[in-house]
Amino acid sequence: MTHSPQTPHLTVVQHPLVQHKLTIMRDKSTPTPLFRQLLREISLLLAYEVTRELDMTTTQIETPLQMMQAPTLDGKKLALVSILRAGNGLLDGILELIPAARVGFVGLYRDPDTLKPVQYYCKLPDMLEARAAIVVDPMLATGNSSVAAIDLLKEKGAQNIRFLCLLAAPEGVARMQAAHPDVPIVTAALDSHLNDHGYIVPGLGDAGDRMYGTK
Ligand code: URA
Repeated sequence: MTHSPQTPHLTVVQHPLVQHKLTIMRDKSTPTPLFRQLLREISLLLAYEVTRELDMTTTQIETPLQMMQAPTLDGKKLALVSILRAGNGLLDGILELIPAARVGFVGLYRDPDTLKPVQYYCKLPDMLEARAAIVVDPMLATGNSSVAAIDLLKEKGAQNIRFLCLLAAPEGVARMQAAHPDVPIVTAALDSHLNDHGYIVPGLGDAGDRMYGTK
């Protein structure tokens, strides 16, 4: 895992398994079922990293040998918020690790001309002010969708938010850190740049299309 002094809230997960799986996902010859399977596997590993700083408390339990104060997650159930549609690929794996999490969805599409997000759906868990929230979207490209989704969460009271993606562009990281400097970002890679169509380079193409076999 690396942090840079310019971007203290950015964590790039350098774990060999993450990097190996990501390389296969980037390869354009990787077929849809394998892409989806790798995304699920990688999301488990990234979930481990993005939940590293969750608040803990202790609870009294009895082992077969004695009573003990044992560590446990503190507070209300976590909120996982998927930015549709590609966010669902990351969401599924994380839910296997944290099955009790509450789940929200934000539907945003990118206007192809302006690249600005347009909201078409929003359903979020209640009591966001009392939950840690993890927003998931595989691609942090311009940052417009992520910033808009986090704006929505904050409007509904969320105060403790993390952002998880698979690939980030420097432009998206800068936009997120300008708009939401309190939100840590966890990613598997920080790529070179965005092209004129807002795609991450070298990237992996359109995450939703790769995941669902659409074009
Ligand atoms: N969304 C994608 O699916 N891919 C990109 O490269 C950028 C945004």
